[in-house]
Amino acid sequence: MVCPHCDDTGWKPVEENGTRRVVRCDCWRDQIGHKRLLEANIPKRYHHCTLANFSAYNESLEQAVAKARRVAESFPGSSKGLLLEGQPGVGKTHLAAAVLKQVIQTTGARGLFYDTRDLLRIIRSTYDPSIRTTELEILRPVMTADLLVLDDLGAEKTSEWVEETMNLIVNTRYNERRLTIFTSNYQDIPDETEPNSLLFRIGHRMRSRLHEMCEFIQMDGADYRELPVNGGIDDLITLWKMRRKGQLPAPGRGGRQARAQLRDGKGDLKWSGGRAGS
Ligand SMILES: Nc1ncnc2c1ncn2[C@@H]1O[C@H](COP(=O)(O)OP(=O)(O)OP(=O)(O)O)[C@@H](O)[C@H]1O
Ligand SMILES: [Mg+2]
Ligand SMILES: [Zn+2]
Repeated sequence: MVCPHCDDTGWKPVEENGTRRVVRCDCWRDQIGHKRLLEANIPKRYHHCTLANFSAYNESLEQAVAKARRVAESFPGSSKGLLLEGQPGVGKTHLAAAVLKQVIQTTGARGLFYDTRDLLRIIRSTYDPSIRTTELEILRPVMTADLLVLDDLGAEKTSEWVEETMNLIVNTRYNERRLTIFTSNYQDIPDETEPNSLLFRIGHRMRSRLHEMCEFIQMDGADYRELPVNGGIDDLITLWKMRRKGQLPAPGRGGRQARAQLRDGKGDLKWSGGRAGS
């Protein structure tokens, strides 16, 4: 069907204060957004994610969605990206993907999603140690995307090569004022001897850059993957409270029974066992 506003030219006439001019038609933005969304490399598992379908059942999650929404709605106006940190399954990747999708759809920006480990693997496969360079073909879109999501930062323990490569990407984006959203399981505690600290995983230089270019957001909540099929907000709150108390056994160590009890409305039972998920 031919667009009734622009006749498929992509430009539509508008009248302002008696003068006529042409502006980009919405159909053009929709088309560009659609094309760019296909090119954004967002994993299928996260195609359904939006800010609207993210359940915020506690204060930390409410704050996280509010900040994510601010970045999405003010794009490209926001001066800082985000670093979403928290335990497995709290919805870090969900929020990052939701912002990326919204920005691409509403502005037609070039957005890109990468799992950090996958990205490093791809870069490494084209790395030529004799001349210490990587194919620019891979690096260029990562460095120049209007919005980049780097998922699971720190999953790969830093090495000289990883650090060099990540610093190149992050510094280039920082210098060009391009927004980046990171997610990480590792806590931002200033202890480089603690193997579960972000500092231990990514090093001083990178951490300090991240603090300049991102707002750090801690997400505290249940492991959504533990939610029973027909579970709702109340179950999430129960799971979250149990996780805080360290009561929820990890999957395979009574986790199934725990979920069954939750389904039967006996969510307050005390279980012995380790920490959930992690
Ligand atoms: N608060 C939420 N509301 C709605 N869906 C959620 C929420 N939290 C998580 N999910 C869903 O649960 C699944 C797991 O969430 P997600 O992958 O975002 O977790 P994560 O914090 O990135 O975990 P990990 O640390 O393991 O990467 C996804 O399908 C996501 O859409
Ligand atoms: Mg994730
Ligand atoms: Zn049109």
